[in-house]
Amino acid sequence: MRKRIVQAIGMVFCMCILLCACQSQERTASDKIYIGVTYYDQSDTFLNELLDCFKKYFAESENEEMKVTVTVRDAAGSQRTQNEQVKELIDAGCNVLCVNLVDRTAPSEIIDLARGEDVPVIFFNREPVAEDLMQWDKCYYVGAKAEESGVMQGELAADAILGNEQADRNGDGKIQYVVLEGEPGHQDAIIRTENAVATLESKGITLEKLSYGIANWNRAQAQNRMTQMLGEHKDQIELVLANNDDMVLGAIDAYDALKYMDSERPLLFGIDGTDMGLKAMEDLKLSGTVYNDKEGQAAAMAELAVAIVSESGMEEIEFENDKYIYLPYSKVSLENIDDFQGR
Ligand code: GAL
Ligand code: CA
Repeated sequence: MRKRIVQAIGMVFCMCILLCACQSQERTASDKIYIGVTYYDQSDTFLNELLDCFKKYFAESENEEMKVTVTVRDAAGSQRTQNEQVKELIDAGCNVLCVNLVDRTAPSEIIDLARGEDVPVIFFNREPVAEDLMQWDKCYYVGAKAEESGVMQGELAADAILGNEQADRNGDGKIQYVVLEGEPGHQDAIIRTENAVATLESKGITLEKLSYGIANWNRAQAQNRMTQMLGEHKDQIELVLANNDDMVLGAIDAYDALKYMDSERPLLFGIDGTDMGLKAMEDLKLSGTVYNDKEGQAAAMAELAVAIVSESGMEEIEFENDKYIYLPYSKVSLENIDDFQGR
């Protein structure tokens, strides 16, 4: 009998310990904000510029009541590395995380880790699928709508083509074009291309696709792909649509290296409005780009992080579907380029 009682007490005791361990800690409001950031790859130009804006935001806004520490990690293209970084950032005491996923279809482990310690997660730029974001009410997303940037790129290209008889260089009534694509599976790759092409067609422009190359947002890879396409199609290419500025800059590098004259070059369009992209527009090497609002995205992430941790100001933030903040894109032209430079 006594043995049974001791056993029963022991079991209740064990269950209590287990229960306590399983229950995640609820964090309380804090005026010390420790932000842990991890991004998919440090070679990405747009993200480096976005994170510079993010750090600058706090450098300019820090005051006595609010102390902010930002720690940034590069996942170097590995989801496994990124998961470990999230664990380390949480262990180091971060009370909010900003995650630019390596694999946008694989956020579950990160969400589980964060939920276990009640550390909210702001995903940015690489959009998780909606079902994944629904896994926990403290997951958010800050970014921009891929479709919008594609439509704008198509409009810029249509304006340039319709206002310029030289655009159809061989005069066959069609615009021969090639595409430089970002990473397969990224929301900003295929959606941008589809919308740019559909917009051009909706303006009555007949297109003929000569080729495409996947260059993973990367300038050097794009130069390679473009050099190959030029080897095959020479001066038949009348339009280059690139899913971002770095890749269109790579295409320009290819034309430069092969010493094409200005009159032999196609119209070329990018997306992002990076420093180098805007410079290439000013130098008249790039026909146009669409501004991906890094300042707006950085500020939205920063304001959300502060509101979450300090538990104030959340009601002032405008979400779409409770979780999403999308910043608008803008078309950059030579007339308005000054508005975007040195923001
Ligand atoms: C896109 C951007 C690209 C690249 C990519 C990375 O929004 O246009 O240049 O940065 O995100 O996820
Ligand atoms: Ca033509």
